Amino acid sequence: MAEDHIIIEQSRALHGTVELAGAKNAVLVIMASLILTDGKSVLTNVPANDDVWQMIKLLRDLGAVITFDPENHRLEVDTRLITKFSVRAEVMKKMRASVLVMGPLLARFGRSDIALPGGCVIGSRPIDYHINGFKRMGVEIDIDGEYLTAHATELKANKIVLEYPSVGATENLMMAAALTRGTTRIVNAALEPEVIDLMNILKKMGAHIVIEAPATVVIEGVELLRPVEHAVIFDRLEAGSFLLAAAMTGGSIEVPQAPAFAMDMFLLKLEEMGHQVTVGIDGIGVSLRATRSPKAVSFKTAPYPGFPTDLQAPMLAAQCVASGTSTIYETVYENRLLHVMELQKMGAQIKIEHNKATIMGVDKLYGASVIATDIRASCALVLAGLVANGITRMSGINHLARGYEAMPQKLQKLGANIWYETQLPQDIKLRMPISQLA
Ligand code: EPZ
Repeated sequence: MAEDHIIIEQSRALHGTVELAGAKNAVLVIMASLILTDGKSVLTNVPANDDVWQMIKLLRDLGAVITFDPENHRLEVDTRLITKFSVRAEVMKKMRASVLVMGPLLARFGRSDIALPGGCVIGSRPIDYHINGFKRMGVEIDIDGEYLTAHATELKANKIVLEYPSVGATENLMMAAALTRGTTRIVNAALEPEVIDLMNILKKMGAHIVIEAPATVVIEGVELLRPVEHAVIFDRLEAGSFLLAAAMTGGSIEVPQAPAFAMDMFLLKLEEMGHQVTVGIDGIGVSLRATRSPKAVSFKTAPYPGFPTDLQAPMLAAQCVASGTSTIYETVYENRLLHVMELQKMGAQIKIEHNKATIMGVDKLYGASVIATDIRASCALVLAGLVANGITRMSGINHLARGYEAMPQKLQKLGANIWYETQLPQDIKLRMPISQLA
């Protein structure tokens, strides 16, 4: 039976070493990119989270033959039997990243029929930059209600200017251009570490891709892309979440696989709070020793290398119990402050004006029943529960499972009191107010 609540009890300082999984936001697009090849590829360091299982389902729907060994994080994808170019609406709706098969399908078949991915709680999340870019490549696109059919007799290389450095649009267009004769230039491209990891696997497949400063991706189309073996980069967002868990509980942690080279802005802010941060050789690995009196810090989220929007919610949770006042601007999404309301239930002092949150640090938070609204909000609430007096009961835990492989189990290993409600140890049941057991 899938658990439906997670219980987090105030925990002592967390200490230890945590093993990371591969980056969710790299592996999903990399799995989609395999549609560009004809044969069996092997991906390692693949996180066993729910979004990966969803992408497996989608690729199998198209005809791919897939074996996944979640214990060893190894995924084998044979694309020779992919014959379909349409994705069912119910599959599209489950995960926005499904839109990332559009570029590869257009490159492979000249066709791609998908349902519009639709928005989510953090924003409307349109795909207009993807659509405008594909139109520049000669794709005919017809939108009928929620269905989008796209076809091109032949994709055309072109110059595409993105009005915003969209991660997904950069990835989708780059994948289509990799098999499009001629030179395609994507100006104002996203250069997030996950985009670079996609670029790396495409080049391994035989694609010709270079980056021209400051942010233009130049793709020389080729005839054929080959199946490959590739280790997905480790997840900087998971690394950040565990560093914050140790920082907030006053502990210490080693994250030997953390891609510190891709975490500069986040690590800078941790140091500004007063935590002792040490980066490993060649920018691989981070260790943190928490300060006893963290100072509040302010930041704005921005495209890479700015502060990552996907670490905004967990970092905001840390400001709730830091000393001083912090101002956080969420500039990437129009509605990514929903976790604030839940943190206020726990006693956090936060004011919101449009996309700006002002957080006045408090001495303590209090356990409460809270609702996780999205992947990163679920992480923020777990972190807050670790330091809150008493017991926090969190629903919406499907979001946590979508974005993180076995986060509760990894936190337990560091000393955290966190359980799925169905696994509650007897003594904690006795400590919980009856109302919270309902
Ligand atoms: C990717 O989403 C990530 N998802 C997101 O992570 C991440 O927050 C985001 O990049 C920014 O870093 C995956 O990689 C699977 P965008 P994506 O296109 O590609 C607007 C998480 O929690 N926009 O860079 O959808 C859009 O609405 C998730 O792991 C348009 O207006 O992000 C948003 O406001 C959440 N039109 C902004 O741009 C478009 O055509 C950034 O979106 C495309 C995007």
